[in-house]
Amino acid sequence: MTKQDVGVEKLSFYTPSYSIDIHELAIARNMPPEKWEKGLGQQQMSVITPHEDIVTMAYEAALDILTVEDRSHIGLLLFATETGIDFSKAAGIYLHELLKLSPSCRVLEVKQACYAATGSLQLACDFVRSNPDKKALVVSSDIAWYGFKSAGEVTQGCGSIAMLVSNQPNVCSVEQGQVYTENVPDFYRPSFSEVPFVDGKMSIKSYLSLLKKVFKPSSLDYFCFHMPFATMGDKANKALGDEQIPAERLEWSKEFGKLVGNIYNGSLYLSLLSLIAYADTSLAGKQIGMFSYGSGAIGEFFKLQINKNYKQAALVGLVQERILNRRALSFNEYEELWTIFSEREGAVQYSPVASYQSPSLRIALEKVENGHRSYRLINDD
Ligand code: CAA
Repeated sequence: MTKQDVGVEKLSFYTPSYSIDIHELAIARNMPPEKWEKGLGQQQMSVITPHEDIVTMAYEAALDILTVEDRSHIGLLLFATETGIDFSKAAGIYLHELLKLSPSCRVLEVKQACYAATGSLQLACDFVRSNPDKKALVVSSDIAWYGFKSAGEVTQGCGSIAMLVSNQPNVCSVEQGQVYTENVPDFYRPSFSEVPFVDGKMSIKSYLSLLKKVFKPSSLDYFCFHMPFATMGDKANKALGDEQIPAERLEWSKEFGKLVGNIYNGSLYLSLLSLIAYADTSLAGKQIGMFSYGSGAIGEFFKLQINKNYKQAALVGLVQERILNRRALSFNEYEELWTIFSEREGAVQYSPVASYQSPSLRIALEKVENGHRSYRLINDD
């Protein structure tokens, strides 16, 4: 078996059913809207509801792609997040039970800012290379919360990516990448803090510096970047100099992120889904460059080769419908929902309020009791 035979068999994305318009948020914050709409390229942002957390979002995304047979073959579940709900117990343990995975499946939570999903994808590919009869499930699930009136408020968002990794890579084959790791204090969230400490300018500088260190010129058809905000993609593409891809191709990869906002670990894979959804030509057989950046910091450049059945295997129709059908919140509702989230994450006991439960939810956070979470499956068939 060659390295090319391993990769993403199925791919999906979940985001909650509520969003805020960036224009409205800018007006409410006395900010010129064009700074956030043109300067950062953002249009909307998904907002987390009282019934949802990193586990429920991961469940929704994973449920889209897993058959009963897939579940019996999964020998590794990697849950990438920088929005952990527990310093000891992996969020994946809850997900493992909810998805009814095998007791012999190994479960780990993986953390390195926005890079953990890429590290997990590469480790999952290695796992399948040495266990070709098994599959791995990689999920990224994050809620980007910087706090009201912070510089990062406009770069918030939430969502979850699920990737089934196997030796039937119907979406794309994954190549091993080039990694660069260095200690940078650009963004970190110590255990005592509800929100990250961020030096935004340093983070952009570090992102571009690591991109230049790992990128290898290699006749690519397309490029997807980690995009906490859309114009970060333009800065990154420009940094590639003569190797940059045409602006129109980059635009396709930006569309979903402009509407969802920053989802940390999943952002790079949301760019890929966006490219698949919006490209006006077939991507089958095309080489995609991928750049993953996680503050702190790690950068990785790697390549994907898109395979024949990519459109059906990446659930872009469902994902697009999910994003386009969200209900727009008023500014007051936006503040109410983030306030509920921030209070809940530090709460020992919590029961969600009855409002904002979307009819399409298939799982809900039922309660937090002594810091332990329980979940309720809805329409479980
Ligand atoms: N009209 C049009 N454009 C305008 C404008 C106006 N009226 N006013 C300002 N702008 C432009 C600016 O020129 C700037 O563009 P350039 O960078 O191309 O010059 C852009 O709008 C943003 O302006 P500022 O730099 O002044 O904005 P800011 O100080 O509010 O900071 C930010 C922006 C650094 C992204 C901040 O939101 C932040 O700290 N976000 C969180 C950190 C982050 O996302 N970092 C990205 C790299 S790190 C990473 O990728 C990991 C991760 O996910 C967090």
